[in-house]
Amino acid sequence: MIYFNGSFVPEEEARVSIFDRGFLYGDGLFETMRAYRGKVFRLDLHLQRLFHSAKIISLSIPKTLKELEEAVYETLKENNLKDAYLRLTVSRGEGERGLDLPLSPRPNIIIVAKPLSPYPKCWYEEGLRAVVVRVRREKGSRLSGIKSLNYLPNILAKVEAKEKGADEGIMLNRDGYLTEATVSNIFLISQGRLLTPSLESGALPGITRKAVIELAPTLRLEVLEREIKLSELMEAEEAFLTNSLRGVVPLTQVNGRPIGQGRPGKITRAITQAYSKAVEDDS
Ligand SMILES: Cc1ncc(COP(=O)(O)O)c(C=O)c1O
Repeated sequence: MIYFNGSFVPEEEARVSIFDRGFLYGDGLFETMRAYRGKVFRLDLHLQRLFHSAKIISLSIPKTLKELEEAVYETLKENNLKDAYLRLTVSRGEGERGLDLPLSPRPNIIIVAKPLSPYPKCWYEEGLRAVVVRVRREKGSRLSGIKSLNYLPNILAKVEAKEKGADEGIMLNRDGYLTEATVSNIFLISQGRLLTPSLESGALPGITRKAVIELAPTLRLEVLEREIKLSELMEAEEAFLTNSLRGVVPLTQVNGRPIGQGRPGKITRAITQAYSKAVEDDS
């Protein structure tokens, strides 16, 4: 059952208009989240990011954060799910012709919950192979900081990565600094310190990224958020990607060259364990 503007409808009946601006222009936002044993990890932060992003694009969400929180849990319940993939989409709804914002906006709010099919074991045991792609992200752009319905750059990055035989694409900004992968933030270990591109570089403020940054001190790891050169990644001791659905995934090869020893490293493992424990303690 799909949550659709306050009601639950079967999947086949959940339909938006062909004039919905989400469909016409990618005018809307989304969040992808994961429920573990009936609890959505960091749901409050996902919803805060959604409302913050809505403000940036002048989209007034006709529900409160609390109401959406309840709606997410009701969706899990309606579908009898405890461990799940969740997607919350808010589109600006139908508008008059043209780009002007509708005078009386009626956003569509949709929540989908599905059982989460497990990701390949080899991702976690051997790590992912990535290539640096042609797609660039904008440094300092507010659009890089929100999860809008326009994922074309990320889609093109993924296509290019696949064409080059890799699992993931890493995007740089126009100054050549690292930003993130197609659906994940990126971290690297250099001289025993944890480094991740600053949000200013053009990365999404990932919820998992934030969790990892907060966990680092418990592992006596210093964290640096700053501009990072591609060469620093190539010379790193370890690297990994973070995403709410996938968790922490080792990154062991970039542009055909191994990162560190070319297998998941000790610190990546420690962070994976700490993250799993944070999830467990939370659920
Ligand atoms: C472009 C991009 N960067 C980073 C992330 C990771 O964000 P989060 O940890 O909130 O899932 C995502 C998640 O989908 C993403 O699409």
